[in-house]
Amino acid sequence: HEEPHLPNSLSLLSVDTLSLQKQIDELSTFSDTPAPSVTRILYSEKDVLARSFIKNLMGFAGLSVREDAVGNIFGRWDGYEPELAAVSTGSHIDAIPYSGKYDGVVGVLGAIEAINVLRRSGFKPKRSLEVIMFTSEEPTRFGISCLGSRLMAGSEALEKALKKTVDSKNISFLDAARSAGYAKGEEDLSSVFLKKGIYSAFVELHIEQGISIGIVTAIAAPASIKVDFEGNGGHAGAVLMPNRNDAGLAAAELTLAVEKHVLDSGSIDTVGTVGILELHPGAINSIPSKSHLEIDTRDIEEDRRNTVIEKIHHSALAIAQKRDVKLSEFKIVNQDPPALSHDSIIKAMEASSQELNLAHKLMISRAYHDSLFMARISPMGMIFIPCYKGYSHKPEEFSSNEDIANGVKVLALTLAKLSLY
Ligand code: GLV
Ligand code: MN
Ligand code: MN
Ligand code: MN
Repeated sequence: HEEPHLPNSLSLLSVDTLSLQKQIDELSTFSDTPAPSVTRILYSEKDVLARSFIKNLMGFAGLSVREDAVGNIFGRWDGYEPELAAVSTGSHIDAIPYSGKYDGVVGVLGAIEAINVLRRSGFKPKRSLEVIMFTSEEPTRFGISCLGSRLMAGSEALEKALKKTVDSKNISFLDAARSAGYAKGEEDLSSVFLKKGIYSAFVELHIEQGISIGIVTAIAAPASIKVDFEGNGGHAGAVLMPNRNDAGLAAAELTLAVEKHVLDSGSIDTVGTVGILELHPGAINSIPSKSHLEIDTRDIEEDRRNTVIEKIHHSALAIAQKRDVKLSEFKIVNQDPPALSHDSIIKAMEASSQELNLAHKLMISRAYHDSLFMARISPMGMIFIPCYKGYSHKPEEFSSNEDIANGVKVLALTLAKLSLY
């Protein structure tokens, strides 16, 4: 009598693998670069089309759909005790330039399919179930990661910053949002904030390296930094070496300093990447007068990562002085703490894997995810499924139908358990 509404036979949890694969393939066609690569940038035409696609699928799954002012999309299945805090799941569908078709997507389309699985099994949720498609998990367009979930979790700093944020073409965040049909008539994005406790649980399904179901116990702490150097430009032939203040060389030196400080931490868990390096004016016969770097650094230990950030800052100052260039910007864009999965959700994910006879292991997430921010307002957990060679953020990204179906089943059963909790 305790759990009268759990599917009484696990064999009733059947994933429509064919439809799910077709949806993943179709969604990948909403892209600004040719297949097999996927590029889907926030509020672009393709992003707007992809959003309609998702809302339609939510509708077909019988979910009632709502969107907030920045385009986070929520699809809700009312439970029979709808006044209880809901159980939520979801991920993102934006894709960094020339990436693949599974990152984030599996956690959105898979979540909708998990709802379908539960409906077909005859399950009736007690707590409502909600699928969330988060706006802009990737920092591509406006330079800030997890924009939608960060805002949902109540980041006043971001709410304020977005009023002045522009993209690389100088289009403001608010204009871009409006062009996609959001932020209509509002400057105040605090309507996106959700109250702590609105969800009793949040679970995200995502691709990741590995050979079995991964049950995430913690998400590493990411940070990103923007740096600008300004030196003197000039003719690449005429200006002799002693007379140069080359902003490009300052950037090159700082890039190597990032690697050094990261390695000096002595921990394999500390990582650092300079993924953006731009030189101005960018001509072979012109000394770079300006350079721009963007640095990503992460660790499972926040203090150790913060030490790396301090060292990078010291290096930037020292390099500028030595080369007589100006460090015109050193901006820490975000410096997020790590997050722990909630014990009760880890237990539900483990029990679900076990009951489904699926091998599983505990792991940490080195990538960040919207879950990092959902953890601020809700108990959180993540389910990882294997992907080919652990590839992500490139076109070779691949997860098999079988692995996806297994992930969807674990998600469905976990949601069912949490819904009755
Ligand atoms: C998100 O994709 C990340 O960079 O971890
Ligand atoms: Mn990603
Ligand atoms: Mn992702
Ligand atoms: Mn990510």
